[in-house]
Amino acid sequence: MQERVPQNGTVTVTFTLNGRPATAVAAPFASLADTLRQELGLTGTKIGCEAGDCGACTVLLDGEQVCACLVSTAQADGARVDTVEGTDTTTDRLRAAFLARGAAQCGVCTPGMLMAATDLLAHRPAPSRSEVEDTIGGVLCRCTGYLQIVEAILDAAAATRAELAEAQAENLWPALRQAQDCGSEQHPSAEPVEARAGCAVGKRLPRVDGWPKVAGTDRFGADEAPADALWMRVVRSPHARARFTLGDLAAVQARTAGLVAILTSKAGAGAWRGTLPRRGRAGAGRVAAGGRKRLRSRLAHHLGAGDAVVRG
Ligand code: FES
Ligand code: FES
Repeated sequence: MQERVPQNGTVTVTFTLNGRPATAVAAPFASLADTLRQELGLTGTKIGCEAGDCGACTVLLDGEQVCACLVSTAQADGARVDTVEGTDTTTDRLRAAFLARGAAQCGVCTPGMLMAATDLLAHRPAPSRSEVEDTIGGVLCRCTGYLQIVEAILDAAAATRAELAEAQAENLWPALRQAQDCGSEQHPSAEPVEARAGCAVGKRLPRVDGWPKVAGTDRFGADEAPADALWMRVVRSPHARARFTLGDLAAVQARTAGLVAILTSKAGAGAWRGTLPRRGRAGAGRVAAGGRKRLRSRLAHHLGAGDAVVRG
């Protein structure tokens, strides 16, 4: 793999992505999550913490669940990578069960939950409840309280639950699959729901916006940015308390292609008004008017204090 690192500091990685050959060009230590989302456009893999804590970025690497934010892209070379956009039949059963149980609420954790559960069912077709709980223990959900998720995974494992069987009998699942093939904009809920007499009132129905959440096609704020958006990185203090000075930033800017601005506490009024993106996030940071200016000038007061912002 190393021999393929070219002079410009990127590496070309080939792997099997959701059953198909894929090639990515990325910085050697760019995370797999960033490469999937930013280069390959698979934004179904979500990013929460970028620190291995939340599990939102869970994908399968050679069949084992991993936090894609902690895996370098180079590590995926030659591997099999499966994401929520894949069409694995086990994941499909889980999707149906998540819809039937209402296990996807906001949907941010859902891709990670689905991939973790896919890993479990591939190795343990009939898991116990505690095994399910252990498996999804690394994926945090702030919405559901986990009960529906655990039940959905058990349902998918058993595949005998009445609603799931009924959904399959009513041909719901093929319709959902067809909707995925047609793209996220045309999921079944885009059309008026027609239910047979006696099949709607008093019946549990999949939520109308549920499909994109279990298919990984729902779009959140971090999933798209204007083509001409600037990207921002906050340089933070690695020390709890330290004095520092800033060097020749003009020289840094001059020798760095594409770097539009370096903002420090000395930036003029209006140049920086906003809340700093959270620690560890290297993606686009939205600058809200009227926010507090928090860049430090000479003294970092705490670990992770913002010292400078670069835009490019
Ligand atoms: S984004 Fe990867 S664990 Fe939170
Ligand atoms: S459904 Fe919202 S975080 Fe889990």
